Amino acid sequence: MKLNNIEDFIREIQMASLEKAMDRAAFVEQFRIKYLGKKGLISELFEEFKTVPNEQKKEMGQALNRLKTAAQAKIEEFKSSVEKLEQQSQTSDLTLPTDYSAVGSRHVLSVVMNEIIDIFSRIGFTVADGPEIEDDYHVFTALNFALDHPARDMQDTFFVEKEPSVNKPTDVLLRTHTSGVQVRVMEQQKPPIRVIMPGRVFRNEAISARAHCIFHQVEGLYVDKKVTFADLKQTLLYFAKEMFGEQTQIRLRPSYFPFTEPSAEMDISCNICGGKGCNICKGTGWLEILGCGMVDPNVLETSGIDSKEYSGFAFGMGVERMAMLKYQIRDLRLYFENDLRFLRQFDTIV
Ligand code: DAH
Repeated sequence: MKLNNIEDFIREIQMASLEKAMDRAAFVEQFRIKYLGKKGLISELFEEFKTVPNEQKKEMGQALNRLKTAAQAKIEEFKSSVEKLEQQSQTSDLTLPTDYSAVGSRHVLSVVMNEIIDIFSRIGFTVADGPEIEDDYHVFTALNFALDHPARDMQDTFFVEKEPSVNKPTDVLLRTHTSGVQVRVMEQQKPPIRVIMPGRVFRNEAISARAHCIFHQVEGLYVDKKVTFADLKQTLLYFAKEMFGEQTQIRLRPSYFPFTEPSAEMDISCNICGGKGCNICKGTGWLEILGCGMVDPNVLETSGIDSKEYSGFAFGMGVERMAMLKYQIRDLRLYFENDLRFLRQFDTIV
């Protein structure tokens, strides 16, 4: 019985739009005939209403009246927008150039990524690129990840094609970090190498304010004769000051990454409270911003670089995190939702 679907009809009417109609006036007339015409849906329903048992009449009657009012209101709305459009087309000169003022703006992640690239290019780093769909060899094996390292696990990695036997280097996957580009660069270039590698990475994570399955990293690699940890530290101090202001301090904490030895994580003094302790730095005065270390000799050798002659340092940072700290963005999802109220807050930053 169609009467039961009245609420669906009301919704259908309310959702109706003129937008796609080729001939708007004809569309409105067809719409009227469909719902309010002599043999239209609503009069058909009123006919059916006569057979409704008395105890349901009140409720059904009210719903039917709402349906009729909704259809009439929609037709009024359509008519006035058709009229308005007609007036506009009579008064406006279609040969005039369109309004150029509403140009888009760069996304905050591009802004921050470009800023990072800029800072490193001032001290001689060039930019390198690698594929987002990678193989196990470049993302894990050549970076000294043991075969049973948890990062290779299905829970972290999106596999495109997985070999039946566990973790063969031929597995095809979405890269989980940009560190694999280091390997591609070392395969193609001889030292001295000084590159940064920005790009998108993927991890099989549930989406929340603090985690996302897609994000961006910037990787850095410096390989030459006699590169030391002091070079790493000075380079990163320079970066932190350029990025977060001259007063910024850094601290390096020992850490572990399979591809660097020794490895460290770098914190900067909290740029919100100046190191006194606030809710952003959770009262510690420090914010963790990147991982780094001296390139493990195994990694150099695997990529054909003599580790007795050359040494190097590497680092990797998350662009979303960098932007969060710089602009106090609290929710990772905002980056990907394309909400203009968010995007427009950055349109003055070039
Ligand atoms: N690839 C690491 C990650 O995704 C970050 C990283 C740490 C990169 C240390 C490096 C490094 O180059 O040396 O968490």
